Amino acid sequence: MMSSKVVLLAIILRCGGIQVDPPEEIKIIDSGHLGHLEMTWTPPASLIHMQECLIRYQLEYYNTYRQSWTVIKTIHRTYSDQFDLMKDVQVRVYTLLSGPCTNNTWIRSANYTEVVQNPPSTGLQDSEVEDFGCVFHNMEKTICMWKKSSKSPTSSQLYLYYWYTELEKTEECPDYITKNGVRRGCNFTEKPLPDFTDVNFCVNGSSPEGPLKPTYMSIQIQNYVKPARSDKPHLQTLKGAPLKLHWMKPHGKIPGRCLEYEVEHTRVDPDGKHELQRIPTMLTNHMFPPAGNNERNCFKVRSKLNKYCAMGSFWSAWSHTTCH
Ligand SMILES: *[C@@H]1O[C@H](CO)[C@@H](O)[C@H](O)[C@H]1NC(C)=O
Ligand SMILES: *[C@@H]1O[C@H](CO)[C@@H](O)[C@H](O)[C@H]1NC(C)=O
Ligand SMILES: *[C@@H]1O[C@H](CO)[C@@H](O)[C@H](O)[C@H]1NC(C)=O
Repeated sequence: MMSSKVVLLAIILRCGGIQVDPPEEIKIIDSGHLGHLEMTWTPPASLIHMQECLIRYQLEYYNTYRQSWTVIKTIHRTYSDQFDLMKDVQVRVYTLLSGPCTNNTWIRSANYTEVVQNPPSTGLQDSEVEDFGCVFHNMEKTICMWKKSSKSPTSSQLYLYYWYTELEKTEECPDYITKNGVRRGCNFTEKPLPDFTDVNFCVNGSSPEGPLKPTYMSIQIQNYVKPARSDKPHLQTLKGAPLKLHWMKPHGKIPGRCLEYEVEHTRVDPDGKHELQRIPTMLTNHMFPPAGNNERNCFKVRSKLNKYCAMGSFWSAWSHTTCH
């Protein structure tokens, strides 16, 4: 009690108002999980014996995936998130103080403590793979693909490693896809990846001239679904009546409520003039005006996940065409 009052007095006297120091030291701990980093910090020495104070921290770090600063207020001295290891990792922490020692108002340290960690510059210049991307085909199997850099030595070998929270350590691709002897993809059918979980990937490589530059990526696979192609749509035609087109959702386990569709309607009139129209819809049917004499109407559909079920999706392939 006595000692904390003395320290409080010291804090107040220091600058005429209450001030608090920023945290002592920030550390960034990389346990080899391909960009999942832990940030830890220690309280300022001037606060260690202050029992009457409530201490919190304001953590700010540059999120290279979202390209913006993330701000977190926390009581803890550690926090983890995902970083792109090929970019700078920039972390700042302020001390926040409240309780009887500040007359119960929150104050923040005037400055922050900061660390900036530069990416390791290992690897031959411009040797990293290009166009890395994954597709969760019909929510059944994930396939990731990439292109070898044209600047990497011909005899280089490529590797894909991945990690997510449930895995103790990184694992290597279970089934490489190769073309002309070069690894250019990975098939996860045998070892399915979890959805709604950050999955971290690294594609790196070795060559007689030295290691290739690694590429890192972190994704949640439910945002990379490509539905299967729908069966050919069915057309109901009665002379002089509107054309009623209907179709089925793609086979498989994607719930119907998660899909949206696009119908492509091509009308060819007797002179051979084409008219093309694309209609977005959440339904699995659509009415078109009655067909005129001697005109030809063709329809095909494709689907993707709607915004209520995923943050992103790929269009399926077009169905076969139905004509009238
Ligand atoms: C502490 O806060 C209370 C209520 O906001 C105020 O009335 C009082 O004057 C403050 N005391 C000091 C020492 O600032
Ligand atoms: C605040 O802290 C940063 C990093 O710790 C330092 O570079 C900067 O000079 C400090 N600013 C002030 C005003 O003390
Ligand atoms: C590729 O990355 C994995 C996982 O971090 C690592 O164990 C391996 O040594 C790396 N290989 C090369 C050739 O850099």
